[in-house]
Amino acid sequence: MPMHSTSKQLWRDVQVFDGLAQLDEAMNVLVEDGRIAGLWPSRTFDEALAQGAVEVGSGGVMTPGLVDCHTHLVYAGNRAGEFEQRLEGVSYETIARNGGGILSSVRATRTASEDELIAASLPRLDALLADGVTTLEIKSGYGLTVESELKMLRVARRLGELRPVRVLTTLLGAHALPPEYAGRADDYVSLVCDEMIPAAARERLADAVDVFCEGIGFSPAQCERVFQAARAHGLAIKAHAEQLSNLGGSALAARYGALSADHIEYLDEAGVRAMAEAGTVAVLLPGAFHVLRETQLPPIALLRQYGVPMAVASDANPGTSPICMPTLMANLACTLFRLTPREALAGMTAHGARALGLHDLGCIAVGAPADLCLWGIRQPAELAYAVQAGRLRQRVFNGVVTYAR
Ligand code: NIG
Ligand code: FE
Repeated sequence: MPMHSTSKQLWRDVQVFDGLAQLDEAMNVLVEDGRIAGLWPSRTFDEALAQGAVEVGSGGVMTPGLVDCHTHLVYAGNRAGEFEQRLEGVSYETIARNGGGILSSVRATRTASEDELIAASLPRLDALLADGVTTLEIKSGYGLTVESELKMLRVARRLGELRPVRVLTTLLGAHALPPEYAGRADDYVSLVCDEMIPAAARERLADAVDVFCEGIGFSPAQCERVFQAARAHGLAIKAHAEQLSNLGGSALAARYGALSADHIEYLDEAGVRAMAEAGTVAVLLPGAFHVLRETQLPPIALLRQYGVPMAVASDANPGTSPICMPTLMANLACTLFRLTPREALAGMTAHGARALGLHDLGCIAVGAPADLCLWGIRQPAELAYAVQAGRLRQRVFNGVVTYAR
């Protein structure tokens, strides 16, 4: 139930992390008509601006609503058995080559109805919302037929109607080679380019197109065909690249003006430079790094040196990151990748939004849409420092308080 809507709403005395940094002093924040209408230091209380406003909260830390820019939230079944196999030493790649991994989720997802996928995905979505997410991206990629990829995208769109959240959808037809195309990868890529992408574009089910550029995924030449088809249909481009090896997928994606290259543990300096030149965001996925017990670190120092914006996302998926807690991702980005808490929070707000091509989201600024989180903590860095559910006091979506405790 919306608690507040059209009236002027005021938050007093909040510590603000504006998407890039913490502001120097406690602030007042005014929201009106779904947008941030005022932002000023609390010590200079502005009577005129706040006239007629309802005070909705005070104290604590306010951040932009979190942006989870890379998830595979929609799937059926789970892969707990593979988790155990990997703990016994079987690699993610070996499991994949033996028909498990992504293809195991494909089998479960193909046979699930839209309603079953909604029922399976809603608890995961609710977990993200309870930890501050107001915008997320959801990929397909566990269907791998035209009809079941579109089914996943429809489910993703419906999830965005069932809850107060912005959902962006990404067609990931080139995620794995389905068994019926064994030995005919180029034919499958033709299906993705000539049928899936046009159908998803025609039905307005996808905002972007993604690929898995990897030995167990698709070659750079195959990914390039997918990028060309995406471009021809006016869809944004993203890539899973340099996760397990360096095939140059990030640089290729950058050449196609990709919004982001994601994972990038094996990215080299030439790839970083290509991303910097193209304005491609580096999406760091510490959950997958953690779950796969990876040791190759993404080139954080080079990304900083070249000024490539770093986003941080959950990668929520049944194989490599069965984790639906964005603030844990901020923590892992710091502990595993040595991001500063400020960088990790920017990664889940301003830079996460940029990885989705959403330039007015992920920030607290006058005129921006009022997607906000009020946290029961004293300093923004605490979000990355401690791992603790239940710190979200209020979640504001489009100017409406949707969650308060
Ligand atoms: O982002 N790397 C490829 N895709 C997913 C994993 C998908 C899966 O294992 O189900 C990822 O890690
Ligand atoms: Fe992923």
